[in-house]
Amino acid sequence: MNLASFPMPEQYCSSAEETLLGLVREASPIDSQADARVSFAGDVISGLSARHKQLPPKYFYDATGSHLFEAICRTDDYYVTRSEIALLRNVVAELAASIPDGAVLVEFGSGESAKTCLLLDAAPQLSAYVPIDISADALDEASARLAGDYPQLNIAPVVADFTGQLRLPAAADGRPRVGFFPGSTIGNFDKEGAVRFLRSARQVLGDQAALLVGVDLVKDEATLSAAYDDSHGVTARFNKNLLIRINRELSGDFDPEAFDHLALWNVAESRMEMHLVSCKDQIVNAAGHTFAFRSGERLHTENSYKFTADSFAQLAAEAGWSVSNIWISDEPRVAMVRLEPHP
Ligand code: TRP
Repeated sequence: MNLASFPMPEQYCSSAEETLLGLVREASPIDSQADARVSFAGDVISGLSARHKQLPPKYFYDATGSHLFEAICRTDDYYVTRSEIALLRNVVAELAASIPDGAVLVEFGSGESAKTCLLLDAAPQLSAYVPIDISADALDEASARLAGDYPQLNIAPVVADFTGQLRLPAAADGRPRVGFFPGSTIGNFDKEGAVRFLRSARQVLGDQAALLVGVDLVKDEATLSAAYDDSHGVTARFNKNLLIRINRELSGDFDPEAFDHLALWNVAESRMEMHLVSCKDQIVNAAGHTFAFRSGERLHTENSYKFTADSFAQLAAEAGWSVSNIWISDEPRVAMVRLEPHP
């Protein structure tokens, strides 16, 4: 992996004076740790009991998973981050020009907020930034860093699963809202989930809104497959970390070495799929239950849907949005789409 050539997030941004005064914390409804554990156990039990075993991808992102994901984004094989950042750099002035004075930037699944500073630098008219993420650690780190770099900006982080019911903090009251959803995360929903998310974003952002969505485009299979099975094995470790998390948090006894990482292109569904494939017949215990895996049996852990400009516009339309603009990167191609509420 060529980490050296890939800038760390702070290098994307211009750095302002160091201060922590800009950091404002809003109270937000947070599942208690115990509740989170119970939902995790429930999802593991039902997912591993299903005929086609599967787990929801949101559980990838514990502290190790979040760091491995950042490492994936810096591999040479994973083009999505690189192409999207290059594209954002090229079009950010145009994006920023359509952001109203005093608007609030709301980012869904902000993680380390690596791309956000491109927008924050180009749109000083923003009054507040609301990063929403399921990982409190990632949010803390990112908020502290941004508070130092943008002392005039009200930073109001929300620890939440952005697929659930969302309430914005007071900083967003009465202001126009611009949603930011980069990284092709929209591709990690199934069709119904994507429409549901886009509808709920439409509702949370209100009538004055715009939504900027990073969308990965259909391309040749070799490029796609390499992106989800990088030559340094970082994606494989990321995938298997899910088993390690189950072991730690749900008293599991998975042997991660007894599973292989598999990435495959499902052309009929227009999606990349990630699986963990059992290397042998084996019995695994987790969350107080026992699960049998046959040799070669797959545990489906992630989908990443790839779109065309038309297929994405259609999806957005079903959720009450129309495409007002679409920008496409150099190869390997990804798109940045600006959505407006349907008239
Ligand atoms: N949303 C991105 C994508 O689908 C990131 C992602 C999610 C990802 N899960 C992944 C990238 C697993 C690599 C491997 O491309």
